[in-house]
Amino acid sequence: MSNKMWGGRFSTGPDAIMEEINASIGFDQRLYAQDIAGSKAHAAMLAAQGIVAAKDAQKIQKGLDTILSEIEAGKFTFRRDLEDIHMNVEARLAEIIGAPAGRLHTARSRNDQVATDFRLYVRDTVDALDDQLADFQRALAEKALEHAGTVMPGFTHLQTAQPVTFGHHLMAYVEMAGRDRGRFADARKRLNESPLGSAALAGTSFPIDRDATAAALGFDRPTANSLDGVSDRDFVLECLAAASICAIHLSRLAEEIVIWTSPSFGLVRLSDAFTSGSSIMPQKRNPDAAELVRAKAGRIIGALTGLMVVMKGLPLAYAKDMQEDKEGAFDAFSALSLVIAASAGMIRDLEPDLARMKAAAGQGYSTATDLADWLVRTIGIPFRDAHHVTGRIVGIAAERGIALHKVPLADMQAVEKRITQDVFSVLSVVRSVRSRTSYGGTAPAQVRAQARRWLKKLGPA
Ligand code: ARG
Repeated sequence: MSNKMWGGRFSTGPDAIMEEINASIGFDQRLYAQDIAGSKAHAAMLAAQGIVAAKDAQKIQKGLDTILSEIEAGKFTFRRDLEDIHMNVEARLAEIIGAPAGRLHTARSRNDQVATDFRLYVRDTVDALDDQLADFQRALAEKALEHAGTVMPGFTHLQTAQPVTFGHHLMAYVEMAGRDRGRFADARKRLNESPLGSAALAGTSFPIDRDATAAALGFDRPTANSLDGVSDRDFVLECLAAASICAIHLSRLAEEIVIWTSPSFGLVRLSDAFTSGSSIMPQKRNPDAAELVRAKAGRIIGALTGLMVVMKGLPLAYAKDMQEDKEGAFDAFSALSLVIAASAGMIRDLEPDLARMKAAAGQGYSTATDLADWLVRTIGIPFRDAHHVTGRIVGIAAERGIALHKVPLADMQAVEKRITQDVFSVLSVVRSVRSRTSYGGTAPAQVRAQARRWLKKLGPA
């Protein structure tokens, strides 16, 4: 059978393999709501401009509503021979309302249609992701408030560096998620222009009103160049880039959860709700959710890379290559949605082991910087000299296998005679974190203030 839409020029139908490679209905049916919304806006505009008779436009509107409910009720048969969502909807419209259906495609092409649909879809997705990220931030800030004073080891090079608070560590991710939301919001601003009316590539000779369709679909304005309107996919790329960076952040947190929950560290415990057992080793509690969050970053970054490679060699305007923009993006955005939810779930679920955290925080002479700072503050020697003196005292402790605060005063005085008993007041991990009151520092008072600021900004769930 020759094609209904372009049968005028074609005498036979496609080869089976042509149909298979060409069809996108298997995945672009996800765009049905956006496609119908776009068609309704277009039909209303065509009537308002006198391009299509009002009674035909009404039939079109009603028919499109019927199709929407059919699809939502699962009663719509998607046909691969009709290639994509646009032609499936239009063909069904013709079945329902007859001849007036043929007027809907006036002053429009599938090229501007798909660009419009996909922008609407990505916009909806970004809005949903933003809500989810806010919830993730809420989970983190609430836990941080609860653990503003919980001391844990802070690491650099994964070596114990200085004591920090668990709340402070969690708040670092609130900041990252805040920037992630900012990136999506920036991309959304640029995305929110309507390609509808660009037609195939050159615009149209019909007196269309692009401002009207743009406004009806919630766009800020129409795109200013019809060639760009149909060929731009940077809106997807930008959102996939934002998604990739966000996924990297979540992956780093997941990696930390894997480390913290490992019995060798034992800093944090996840409940049965977010772990799984082993089929052979009865003692195991594996952080599978965290591992999968870590892994999904791979496919999200893969989707970004994939589409960048698809786009990089395409001349203007539309090329069928661009049909490949969707599957990777759909997959990446749903993976991101899942990993944000899983990350928020794990944060709410996890409980730090306070005693182990505190003990680990004191390991590796983690308050050595506090000793050096004390020397600078109390006896007024330059920091570089204080660093040297402290190094020698750490050497004594290491040689004897004792903690820094266990080095006798007399031995410290043998290194620097002006050291007094007062030095011991800064060597505990609790004193250490409490003293770091600089803006953005780890002191419990700072962490509490930051967590409260964020919770106020985020508002209730
Ligand atoms: N299914 C197509 C896509 O996703 C719609 C646009 C087709 N346009 C065309 N000229 N063949 O890109």
